Amino acid sequence: MPAPRKNQLIGIDIGSHSIKIAEIEDSKKGMILRNFGMIGLPEKAVVEGSIKEIEVVSAALKNLLKNLKIKGKDVATSISGYSVIVKKITIPQKGEKDLEESIQSESEQYIPFDINDVNLDFQILPSEEGETEERQELMDVLLVAAKKDIVEEYISLLHLTELNPVVLDIDPFALQNAFEISSHEQSGCHALVHIGAQQLTINVIKDGVSIFTRDSSYGGAQITSEIQKRLDIAYQEAERVKLGARPLEIEQRPAVEEIFSSTVTKWAQEIKRALDFVATTFTDSRVENIILSGGSSLLPGLSKYIGMETGLKVEMLNPFANLEIRERLFDPGYLKYAAPMAVIAIGLALRSIGDR
Ligand SMILES: Nc1ncnc2c1ncn2[C@@H]1O[C@H](COP(=O)(O)OP(=O)(O)O)[C@@H](O)[C@H]1O
Ligand SMILES: [Mg+2]
Repeated sequence: MPAPRKNQLIGIDIGSHSIKIAEIEDSKKGMILRNFGMIGLPEKAVVEGSIKEIEVVSAALKNLLKNLKIKGKDVATSISGYSVIVKKITIPQKGEKDLEESIQSESEQYIPFDINDVNLDFQILPSEEGETEERQELMDVLLVAAKKDIVEEYISLLHLTELNPVVLDIDPFALQNAFEISSHEQSGCHALVHIGAQQLTINVIKDGVSIFTRDSSYGGAQITSEIQKRLDIAYQEAERVKLGARPLEIEQRPAVEEIFSSTVTKWAQEIKRALDFVATTFTDSRVENIILSGGSSLLPGLSKYIGMETGLKVEMLNPFANLEIRERLFDPGYLKYAAPMAVIAIGLALRSIGDR
């Protein structure tokens, strides 16, 4: 008899480079990795978090589900990019029910889109100790707004793939969930930095609470497309050059090296801008270290470079560290390689039915 299924969801991360799927079982003895796999996507099927070729993405997703022998239908997935806004707002104290009714008018001024074009969600943040009387009449709310057309794209994709969307998360929160089950120190202030193919996501966590998030459209695809242009080769070839799997002529090397260094310089500047903002906005919070993930964090020398530029210690996020791994099911070498790319899918697989 198969074990009765818990309320755990299948975590599906639709990236622009690949789709990742993870399943975790939350057992009495701890969390067990049940399933993990990835499948590549062709160029331009998903662009900056927007699904451009729904049939292509659905076919890849079906393939991966089949390869992993997944029968379940209930899914947690996430969206990211410029269509998602996360903002901490401060408003007069009110109850959750009242806020639910007034969230639209309260948020209007903070959202750069027409309020009728977005789905809104919020979370009331814990108040800080030793607040002034004036402060006690106010409360902090974490506001999440996602453009309806992006949400629709993801729902349509899942329906087309005969899946049931139960939780729609956002990448920075999934990242935070993966961090929370990792073996990294949780207390204090940490900058989670996730660099994928077309996204650079930053989430600064202070004592378990997110105090700052930012998403920008930087990522490894910048390097690939620049190599493609400069060397006048196909996308897949350029990808191989980037990964060092295709040897270069001597005269090609300086151009490629220049692409690497100018791109990672931009990434480091983006991270520094975020850290500066956090330092000036939250004067009582000092970011202690950077926890790096995403496929592009595998670029040789990247973590060292970011460490040098920011003056902070950089550690790699391993989302598998505290999961029980059955070696007969998973090749440890594969999981080690995939760890930085698995982060969002693992964060999603931690969600269960009943979460919103
Ligand atoms: N070993 C590596 N060295 C450098 N870049 C890598 C390596 N492995 C993967 N990448 C890059 O990481 C990106 C994919 O990361 P991922 O987090 O999976 O992105 P996405 O979620 O957008 O699919 C691609 O740009 C890919 O080229
Ligand atoms: Mg991604």
